[in-house]
This record gives sequence, structure tokens and C-alpha cells, in this order.
Amino acid sequence: MRDQADKLRQIIDNIKLRQAISQATLINSIKKKTAKVITVTSGKGGVGKTNVTINLAISLSEMGLRVIILDADFGLANIDVLFGIIPKYTLADVISNKKNILEVLSDGPKNTKFLSGGSGVEELVKLEKNQLERFVENIGLLDKIADIILIDTGAGLSDNVMSFVMAADEVLLVTTPEPTSITDAYALIKMVSNRDKEKIIRVIVNRAENTHEANDILNKLSIVADKFLTLKLNPLGFILHDEVVIKAVKQQSPFTLSFPKSQASKHIREISKRLIEDSDEKKDDNADENTGIKGFVSKLVKFLNA
Ligand SMILES: Nc1ncnc2c1ncn2[C@@H]1O[C@H](COP(=O)(O)OP(=O)(O)OP(=O)(O)O)[C@@H](O)[C@H]1O
Ligand SMILES: [Mg+2]
Repeated sequence: MRDQADKLRQIIDNIKLRQAISQATLINSIKKKTAKVITVTSGKGGVGKTNVTINLAISLSEMGLRVIILDADFGLANIDVLFGIIPKYTLADVISNKKNILEVLSDGPKNTKFLSGGSGVEELVKLEKNQLERFVENIGLLDKIADIILIDTGAGLSDNVMSFVMAADEVLLVTTPEPTSITDAYALIKMVSNRDKEKIIRVIVNRAENTHEANDILNKLSIVADKFLTLKLNPLGFILHDEVVIKAVKQQSPFTLSFPKSQASKHIREISKRLIEDSDEKKDDNADENTGIKGFVSKLVKFLNA
């Protein structure tokens, strides 16, 4: 009996070890010269972008990635409120040369860092060419200290948010099962496809009633995008409607920290895993001036000025 139990334990240990090695290999393959910039957006507002952003950041960080969150929802300070942390400085202080980029980063939970956009975007478009170059060099430091930069935006479809979407290496689109949210998500996908059919758009269904409903929406969106827009969507996963999300928001603490064993936290971990596994290696290998945070800012300014 005892022998058998020992053997079983050994087999399980071996499986765990193999899983750990394969995850470490995947994580190493993401660690490139530049950070991957992912814009989190939605067609309709209030669908869960900020909650997805902070909890995904925490989960990815726990998996060994260096993650920075940029709050680009101007006017409404979103991340600060959900983290319960008020940052002293914003990106605007970097743009006006008062601070360097490392001085404006705040510490978030679990080794994450976050950066408040403040009035940064308005200031960014006003810069002269040499001032902009200096800013790009400065913010370029983030490529050295982050593997992933998650940008939380306001609801999509405005020129400002579209610029953040088009400038990013990848887009993470959040929708709920509500028809209005799905229609607006589709409208956003269409706008992206009109500009760049190669753009990687990953979709998350949030607040679904059950797995079936979530998968059905992911499938339908993928089929419609493929057929009518000839754009390949990446269905990344779902988070069911879960009361702990609402509780955690009230406590100003991310649900993955307050309720790590909840269904919502489990779903976030599944999404993180898939995000790491699906990482587009070819694109990463071609990392150049056009990718990472430097490439992102250069493109962003072009789009904002267009
Ligand atoms: N999976 C979920 N289960 C239950 N409630 C949720 C879930 N996700 C989000 N919510 C609720 O929706 C609210 C809005 O979420 P969140 O602030 O993340 O949305 P948002 O898309 O960032 O909104 P905005 O467009 O205003 O920035 C949360 O405060 C919470 O009450
Ligand atoms: Mg938000």
C-alpha cells in the first residue's frame, strides 16, 4: 500500500515538474528585447476592462512576467481607485520633463507596477519633434524593465481610444453577453479591420451566465469576423458573472487578491495561461523600432495627429 502511495506521489511530482518546466520555457520565450504592449478596450463602457486589466496583470506577474499597467482612461482615474493607491505623479510629469519615467511608476500588488496617464495624451500631441524624441527615449526604459505593458482605456470607438488600439502590438477586447456590448465590440473589430487586418485581437467575454453562453459568443464573433471582415480573432476566454468581483471593487482590492479561490480568479488564471501560450513568437522575433513601448508611442503620436 505504502509503496503504491509513494509511487503515485512520485508520478504526480514528475507531472508537476514537467508542467513547471514547460511554463518556464514559455515565459522565457516571451521575454524579448522589448515589452509587449497590449491595449485593453471595449466597444461599450462598463464591461469590466479595468477589472480584467488589474487582475490579469497580477496573474501574469504571479506567473513570472514583469508587468506594467498604464491607466489611459483619462479623466476617470480607474486603476488608482481599484488598487486603492493614489499615484503622486503621472505621465504628464514625464512629458513636461519634471520627472523621469522610473520616478512616476507606482508599485502595485504582487510586483506589478502602474503608471497613470493623467493629461499625458493632450501634452503628447503638443510636443515639438525633438521633445518627442527625448520622451520616446525616456519611456523606452520601460522596454527594459517590463515583459508586458497592459494599457487600460476608456470605452472604444473614439479617435483617442482607436489610436491606442491601432498603436498597440496586440488588442484585448472585452465584451459582456449583452447584445449592445456585442454589437459595439463588433463595430470596434470592424474599425480595426478597415485599418489593419493583421492586428491581433484577443477577445474576453466577461459576466457570462455560464460557460456555454460565453463560448457561444466567442465562436460567433470569430466566425463573423472571419467571414465578413477577413480578420482572425483570438478567443482568449471568459469570466463568469461572479459576486466576488462586485465585493472586491467595493473593498478597492483586486479580486484575485481578496478572493484567490473564486471562480473569477480561476478564469483569470486560465486567460493568463492562454495569453502566454498563444504569444506570437514570430512577431516577437521581429522586435524592432516598431514594437515595444518606443514603437507604440511613435505610432500613437502619428495616429493622434492624423
Ligand atoms: N465578472 C463580473 N462579475 C460581476 N460583476 C462584474 C464583473 N466584471 C465587472 N463587474 C462589475 O462591473 C463594474 C464595471 O467594471 P469595470 O470598472 O472593470 O468596467 P470598465 O469596462 O473598466 O468600465 P469603464 O468603461 O467605465 O472604464 C464593476 O465595478 C463590477 O461591479
Ligand atoms: Mg475602466
